[in-house]
Amino acid sequence: MKVKVRVPATSANLGPGFDVAGLAVTLYNTFTFELIDSGFEIIGCPEQFSGADNMTYQSFLRGAEACGLKFGGVRIECKDEVPYTRGLGSSSTCIVAGIVGAFAFMESYEDRQAILNLATEIEGHPDNVAPAIFGGLTVSVMGKSVTTLQIPVKNDYRFVALIPPFTLSTELSRSVLPAEVTRKDAIGNISHLSLLVASLINGYDEGLRIGFHDHLHQPYRGSLIQGYDEIMSCLESDPAILGCYLSGAGPTIMAVIHADDLMGVVRIKDELGHLLDGWDVQKLELDLQGFKCDYE
Ligand code: HSE
Repeated sequence: MKVKVRVPATSANLGPGFDVAGLAVTLYNTFTFELIDSGFEIIGCPEQFSGADNMTYQSFLRGAEACGLKFGGVRIECKDEVPYTRGLGSSSTCIVAGIVGAFAFMESYEDRQAILNLATEIEGHPDNVAPAIFGGLTVSVMGKSVTTLQIPVKNDYRFVALIPPFTLSTELSRSVLPAEVTRKDAIGNISHLSLLVASLINGYDEGLRIGFHDHLHQPYRGSLIQGYDEIMSCLESDPAILGCYLSGAGPTIMAVIHADDLMGVVRIKDELGHLLDGWDVQKLELDLQGFKCDYE
């Protein structure tokens, strides 16, 4: 028997929701797990990620320990659509898939709360793993357990991912953040995230135009991304763009448009011109399902 797990890419933070908010999008990594007599085999991912420290394998081990799965070895086959180290949650897909894969051999992969708690423990924060598990737009609070709520988004939006040709590690992107923030910046983010969430629930697009503003991480991370200031100010000056933000730890930049803005991608490419040389632009939708697990 094989277990096949498909996990969506995610876009975390949404500007002011640093380490709290995230959404799942229609781009997927797929992992197939098969129990073997001993050891591990990892197929389909670059050589440098195929060792024992492979994140999917390590998460499978943690998942197996948590759900009581006894096994000799495991073969993992990966099919990737989500670009690595670009702020689209590729490592979260590995963590979630590894845990789900192990839970599936014990027929407990629908215990999404247990998967969320363990995935958050491994990742350190829930903003990417929560939407990868539950789908849609989520907000999460860390406590003894992780409390995640899926936010109903009233209007039909599209998420235009501007994906650079270069990578940015989360470690480096977090290292430039200050350890402490001012009360003004804290209030700034609480107010903007509240407005953003309320606007998404109520379909209040004017609120989105203000709500994506962030004080806690984007101002520090921008200098790590070539062309960041020009790209953001160009996107912000387009009246049809409802908001833009740094996706996760970057370097991908996300622009939010209405589903019926059919020329949005063409217009964005035109407006940004040479700033997008070598960049990949993908128009994505919200994934509302989260991970999907099947037996083969
Ligand atoms: N919230 C995280 C960050 C997402 O911005 O660093 C990437 O892991």
